[in-house]
Amino acid sequence: MPRHIVRLVLIMVGFAVLAYGAKQFFTVDSFYQYGHYRGSSVADIASDKPKYKGTAYCASCHAPQLAEWSNGIHNRPDIGKVVRCEVCHSAGGERDVRGTFEHVSTGPDHPKNLKMVVPKDTRQLCTLCHERMTGRPLQQRQIVVAEHAGTQQCSVCHNPHSPRLNLVSAASTAQAGDAAAGKAKAAACAGCHGAEGVSVNAPGPTLAGQHAAYLHDALKAYIEGTRSDPMMNAGAQGLSDDDAANIAAYYAGVTCVSSLDAAKQATLQDKTTAPKCAACHGADGNSTNPSWPKLIGLSKAYLVNSLKAYKGGARKNGMMAGVVKDMSDADMDNVAAYYANATCK
Ligand code: HEC
Ligand code: HEC
Ligand code: HEC
Ligand code: HEC
Ligand code: HEC
Ligand code: HEC
Repeated sequence: MPRHIVRLVLIMVGFAVLAYGAKQFFTVDSFYQYGHYRGSSVADIASDKPKYKGTAYCASCHAPQLAEWSNGIHNRPDIGKVVRCEVCHSAGGERDVRGTFEHVSTGPDHPKNLKMVVPKDTRQLCTLCHERMTGRPLQQRQIVVAEHAGTQQCSVCHNPHSPRLNLVSAASTAQAGDAAAGKAKAAACAGCHGAEGVSVNAPGPTLAGQHAAYLHDALKAYIEGTRSDPMMNAGAQGLSDDDAANIAAYYAGVTCVSSLDAAKQATLQDKTTAPKCAACHGADGNSTNPSWPKLIGLSKAYLVNSLKAYKGGARKNGMMAGVVKDMSDADMDNVAAYYANATCK
């Protein structure tokens, strides 16, 4: 072969290698993902769907959240309203990624290489669906944020996975008991709950001054077996629903004013967790909403036990479960020590 032809071939091969190398190094990764012409990829991208994994997918790894959510108000398939996990946490899988020459590979998946979004600002998230607006159908529950929550996060009071508040039952609120009849029945309780319901070193908690509807519901829970305690199960034995209402009215009428006044609050150490509780239980343990029990007169041991029972699931309450889930034993100890100062004056 003549030498100039050889050189020509070498130069052509050299160019081919250079061109191939340039293509490898200088084209953007997504070049082949949506065809050759970038302009025509817009429709392609728009027709892609995020890969929702569905709620069942989360079950194997996030059972506690799934359980709370399943029993909660955001899971209402019966009326066609379901707010799935991925509505708040973004899609669990990303779009399929096409590799070089149209080869289809699977995009990243949670948990392997995709992090889920954890909504930090519930005032922004929850108001998307719940802020009152003209024209929003009234069947969708809505609130005026400033009046309803002030400047607080929604998650202070609502557990995002089970946001309906477990309020005291309407029946208990409506049924006013007979305090005099209750007083007679309550003689049997004095040994464990103290004379007049103020427990100092007795095994049972203080009942004096507690909201009647809360007491009534608590007694019903022992009678029906949804709340259980070896000592108290015996205490509740043989009580009828009317007895429970009467006893509740009696104890609610006994005066118990919190000794944890502003001056005492200022001297106490625990400033870390108590503010979280104050929205519902009051800084002095005196809650004004009948759905939220007062914490006055409760011993440190009873407070710690109750918090652990909510965390462990022995006492079931969507709201308290949300409150305690991130609390360590030390946190519980601190906050219990704080509220144990709220004795009956
Ligand atoms: C195979 C187990 C597995 C499945 C299935 C799974 N997750 Fe996770 N998830 C994890 C692990 C492990 C972490 C912690 C590591 C991380 O943050 O990526 C996590 C973290 C999270 C977090 C918190 C992230 C953070 O930064 O704190 C959220 C929210 C979450 N997952 C939601 C979901 C949802 C919603 C689903 C269902 C669509 C789901 N996960 C399915 C294992 C799983
Ligand atoms: C209405 C919105 C909403 C829905 C629906 C929802 N979450 Fe969450 N989730 C949140 C918010 C808000 C947080 C942050 C909670 C916090 O900061 O205390 C969170 C936190 C989490 C976390 C982090 C750990 C924790 O508990 O704080 C996991 C895991 C999680 N969610 C899983 C799920 C799963 C699984 C589902 C479906 C069964 C689900 N979520 C449904 C709003 C939601
Ligand atoms: C995607 C829309 C959507 C988002 C986001 C959402 N919700 Fe809901 N919420 C609903 C629907 C739908 C219902 C069911 C309403 C019904 O029963 O008719 C509901 C019910 C509720 C209820 C019960 C109302 C009642 O009937 O007593 C509360 C409380 C609530 N949501 C609070 C929250 C909180 C707190 C957040 C933020 C963590 C949140 N929601 C985020 C759609 C949403
Ligand atoms: C200080 C505690 C507190 C905070 C903070 C709070 N809520 Fe509530 N929320 C309640 C109570 C108590 C109820 C039930 C009593 C009632 O109907 O007013 C309720 C009820 C609701 C309802 C049902 C209303 C209805 O008409 O049935 C929705 C929806 C709701 N809240 C959404 C939110 C959203 C969204 C936020 C955050 C912007 C928020 N809440 C913050 C205490 C709170
Ligand atoms: C969003 C409102 C809310 C917040 C915030 C809250 N709680 Fe509660 N708490 C409740 C409700 C409702 C109950 C009643 C639950 C039941 O019926 O078992 C309760 C029950 C309790 C009980 C049991 C009382 C008894 O007489 O047996 C203790 C103890 C308690 N809370 C402590 C706390 C502490 C400590 C904090 C702060 C870390 C806190 N709570 C924050 C609403 C709240
Ligand atoms: C043998 C001792 C004993 C007797 C008798 C007894 N109790 Fe109790 N009671 C307890 C103990 C212990 C608890 C705390 C149990 C727990 O942590 O769930 C309790 C809890 C309660 C509670 C829940 C308080 C709260 O703050 O949630 C109520 C209400 C109550 N008792 C009412 C009564 C009444 C009314 C009687 C009499 C008819 C009675 N008890 C008799 C030991 C007793």
